[in-house]
Amino acid sequence: MIRSALMTVMTAAAIKAGRGLKRDFGEVENLQVSMKGPGDFVSAADRKAEKTLFEELSKARPGYGFVMEESGVVEGSDKSHRWIVDPLDGTTNFLHAIPVFAISIGLERDGQIVAGLIYNPATEDMYVAEKGQGAWNNDRRLRVSARRDMAMALIGCGVPHLGKAAGHPRFKAELAAVMARAQNLRRMGAASLDMAYVAAGRLDAYWERGINNWDMAAGAILVREAGGFVTDADGGPDYLDAGTVCCGCEPIHKELLAILRVAK
Ligand code: IPD
Repeated sequence: MIRSALMTVMTAAAIKAGRGLKRDFGEVENLQVSMKGPGDFVSAADRKAEKTLFEELSKARPGYGFVMEESGVVEGSDKSHRWIVDPLDGTTNFLHAIPVFAISIGLERDGQIVAGLIYNPATEDMYVAEKGQGAWNNDRRLRVSARRDMAMALIGCGVPHLGKAAGHPRFKAELAAVMARAQNLRRMGAASLDMAYVAAGRLDAYWERGINNWDMAAGAILVREAGGFVTDADGGPDYLDAGTVCCGCEPIHKELLAILRVAK
């Protein structure tokens, strides 16, 4: 585990917001079978968690700015630091009562992610990383997988939903190309956890197009601190702004980028 003052602040905020999400998740399981469905309830749960994170992090580090999925950008007086927060990554899973969702918090210092936390309150899995201090899942130090052979690799991906139909043709081409080379694929439904699983060596690599910086800020430092590589899906360094990501252990990340490059 990382026992820094910063990580204490981040974990305390996540645990507090996570308590609410866990309670609300239990309620969603009941609402599944109602006519109205849990839609509005889930949006409220999402906003409530974001409010808790905003209040707790602001209290502990006054002046830091924020980028949040629901409330957008809040400028801080401290121009060096900003929190990048997704209070509920994996909203669709949460809505369908699938316990694969997480709070994701990244801390950016002078344009660089220096700390990340991903917390699934349903399983109480806490993933943390801080620059130079490694990546951890609860008390276990994380390393990316040692696999080198794409034919043995398990690759994570994101599937563009109906509202992102413009991305479907490219995704289908990329899916076909990866299917032809990798052992198999997984679509977990929460980008932050996909990246935490890469850091933990469960997935050998992961890519997705059309995602936001709050989905990947924390995951990126986890993968890096676990010895992996992170780029955008075209191999470039500016993944946080590019809206695409590709990460993995070095050999599989490299080969996945090569496959994506020629997928038509
Ligand atoms: C989504 C999840 C999903 C990914 C989408 C994201 P949200 O985040 O991470 O796995 O495929 O691109 O938007 O909306 O649940 O916070």
